[in-house]
Amino acid sequence: MIADSFGRVHDYLRISLTDNCNFRCFYCMPEEDYDFTPASRLMQPDEVLALARIFVAQGVKKIRLTGGEPLVRKDAAEIILALGKLPVELVITTNGTRIAEMLPVLIEAGIKTVNISLDTLQPEQFFMITRRDVFHQVRSNIELLLQHKIAVKINMVVMKGLNDGEIKDFIDWTKHNPIQIRFIEFMPFTGNKWTSNKMFSLEEILAVVEKDFVVLPVKSAPNDTAKSFMIPGHEGSFAIISTMTAPFCSTCNRMRLTADGKLKNCLFSDGETDLLTTLRNQEDVLPLIRASIWSKKKALGGQLITNFEKLDADAIKNRSMITIGG
Ligand code: GTP
Ligand code: 5AD
Ligand code: SF4
Repeated sequence: MIADSFGRVHDYLRISLTDNCNFRCFYCMPEEDYDFTPASRLMQPDEVLALARIFVAQGVKKIRLTGGEPLVRKDAAEIILALGKLPVELVITTNGTRIAEMLPVLIEAGIKTVNISLDTLQPEQFFMITRRDVFHQVRSNIELLLQHKIAVKINMVVMKGLNDGEIKDFIDWTKHNPIQIRFIEFMPFTGNKWTSNKMFSLEEILAVVEKDFVVLPVKSAPNDTAKSFMIPGHEGSFAIISTMTAPFCSTCNRMRLTADGKLKNCLFSDGETDLLTTLRNQEDVLPLIRASIWSKKKALGGQLITNFEKLDADAIKNRSMITIGG
């Protein structure tokens, strides 16, 4: 078991496979020319597997693959198939562009839920946000997943003045589709131009939905990032991820492994523990994992979150989102 000094058991590991991405979303990447990590510094497939095995032996029950975009990695299939053999729930967060070609691999690896990042249902707006003209490809890949009975959650980062006007369109989409839309409060990361007035809060999101629909709360699972809701008569549902206005740190069970093999014990911590170098030196990584998680401070994101109205996003010492993977 891996626990912190506040008794939180950590049994959910997020592994970033690469910081590379085929999109260029402004809120996720720093604007200046960004150098993706060279392949030699990334965890190799056998190294991902070796580290994953150590975590699973310590009680990790769920592994989420993230990026950048995890499916742009050339050896993504090899890694996914290997992880699929571990006794763990394997899931993935992706931008949805590579689903069609990867579907047989996802199915063979036993992936039953796919989280897709999609911030707009308008093709021109999609291009504006991602700098890629592939809205219809992503939409048809979502259909493909549903046809294969793979559960789909849509991650929609709500940004005031940009896509908050689309909340109702996303809810309408759940009427006849068994999808879950997760509205996410916009979070600050190095270089992502976050300002508090671009944030659209849990309360504001709920108010918009309640204008047109009857909204009923649904009990969330103990460690969920999302607060869940349903609308009577809708096949799908929605949820809100409220990192900024109603953080969920008290139930945190998450650990993050960056693509270059560093353990981050919190989304907002700048401290990292280099597991990959230790593994390559054939030394024992477990004591490092334990020490890193044990020293996690309660509600590490807390300070940042409670003062977020005065927060200067440029002062945040953290990686940009693209290198953390969410
Ligand atoms: P499920 O396992 O399906 O509930 O997904 P998830 O919410 O754990 O992961 P996903 O990759 O879909 O992330 C959705 C949003 O939640 C992103 O904006 C993440 O940055 C955010 N998120 C995920 N884990 C954490 C966390 O530990 N802390 C905070 N503050 N946000 C998180
Ligand atoms: N704030 C909130 N969520 C974000 N994501 C990326 N950047 C941010 C941000 N600044 C989300 C993406 C993706 C998930 C892993 O993190 O939408 O779905
Ligand atoms: Fe856990 Fe840090 Fe996220 Fe809070 S902000 S839920 S402590 S990872």
